[in-house]
Amino acid sequence: MKLRWKIAATALSLVGITVASGSAALRYEAPCTAGPPAPAGVPVMKAIVHRCYGSPDVIAIEDVPKPVPADGEVLVKVRAVSVNPLEAHGLLGQPYVMRMTSGIGRPSDVRMGVDFAGTVEAVGKDVKRFRPGDDVFGASRRNAFAEYVSVVAENGVIAPKPANVSFEQAAAVPVAAFTALQALRDHGRLRPSQKVLINGAAGGVGTFAVQIAKAFGAEVTGVCSTASAALVTRIGAAHVIDYTREDFMRQDERYDVIVDMVGGHSPAKYRRLLTATGSLVVVGTADKGRWLGPLSGMLGALAYAPFMDRRVVAFMAKPNEADLSFLADLMRTGKVVPVIDRRYAFNDLADAIRFLEQGHAHGKVVVTLD
Ligand SMILES: NC(=O)c1ccc[n+]([C@@H]2O[C@H](COP(=O)([O-])OP(=O)(O)OC[C@H]3O[C@@H](n4cnc5c(N)ncnc54)[C@H](OP(=O)(O)O)[C@@H]3O)[C@@H](O)[C@H]2O)c1
Repeated sequence: MKLRWKIAATALSLVGITVASGSAALRYEAPCTAGPPAPAGVPVMKAIVHRCYGSPDVIAIEDVPKPVPADGEVLVKVRAVSVNPLEAHGLLGQPYVMRMTSGIGRPSDVRMGVDFAGTVEAVGKDVKRFRPGDDVFGASRRNAFAEYVSVVAENGVIAPKPANVSFEQAAAVPVAAFTALQALRDHGRLRPSQKVLINGAAGGVGTFAVQIAKAFGAEVTGVCSTASAALVTRIGAAHVIDYTREDFMRQDERYDVIVDMVGGHSPAKYRRLLTATGSLVVVGTADKGRWLGPLSGMLGALAYAPFMDRRVVAFMAKPNEADLSFLADLMRTGKVVPVIDRRYAFNDLADAIRFLEQGHAHGKVVVTLD
């Protein structure tokens, strides 16, 4: 064998061994272990933890140190949180590729939860925006499923809770509504009087997307099942397509913006439903594949985008204070009213995730801590 073939064969073998061992490492799941005892002499609180990857069965409630607000932070007594598909993915450690950042074998951070609403209990040095007793809502650094959460106040993702919404409604907002708002306004570039189709209109993101699009003056078509058609109409859709009876791909209508939460169709198939200047915004897919899961639809969109004569965008929502305040104003004026499907007690948070995993929530799933 010539030397260059020997080198090529050796290089290929090395690549194969690296890929095989890398994929085995990503798939490895260490057994669940008990957490360390709560440190003596410091105030503790109850928090949801997962010390291994797995189903909601691996969730536990533990005593952990109660946070002390650092300079520029506020300590919030949590009154309600909401559950997102994000938490189900984090719990399972799937898609596996996410373990490169969330931890190989076991989660590097055992805490969970982003969306919260509650009451400020204490403020750190230099906090001017909030005072003890203020009702607030926001997005945490994945540690909101607890009795208390400490959050950066100045330029952090926290805002006063509008008085006309409950803690549960406010907790329903951050991740889902950021996603809906940024999909329509920033990535879809939606303008008044335009036509928008929302595939997955009845879910957590979808119920915000329908209301926000309506608030922007768009004509909304929602795709959902028979069971959720009345809800999607009630929150502002001018037209509803029941996916159990009709394939929305076969209609003759053209849309300026399509927001897709469900997937299952390639961007090329969506092309005929878009106006010449229309945009397809891929938010997620129902794909439960272990390696890429919902990322498959987003990667597919990015791969198609350069070859399409329509805009195709996939994105990850970015939590930020300006959008939270914008959403608070939409709630204050009654243009957005968070839709809550089910409420669970803190001790039953695992059941909330089990329900969400079924993929048929109509609105948001919230957990209360009272
Ligand atoms: N890119 C991002 O930054 C980002 C952020 C948040 C979420 N996401 C992703 O976006 C997706 C939606 O999130 P979510 O919080 O809205 O989830 P969700 O609340 O669990 O949404 C479930 C909804 O999907 C609907 N649905 C199921 N199959 C459908 C179909 N074939 N056609 C139309 N609707 C269907 C269900 O309605 P029926 O019961 O009526 O079937 C249900 O209302 C997920 O994949 C999530 O991972 C992405």
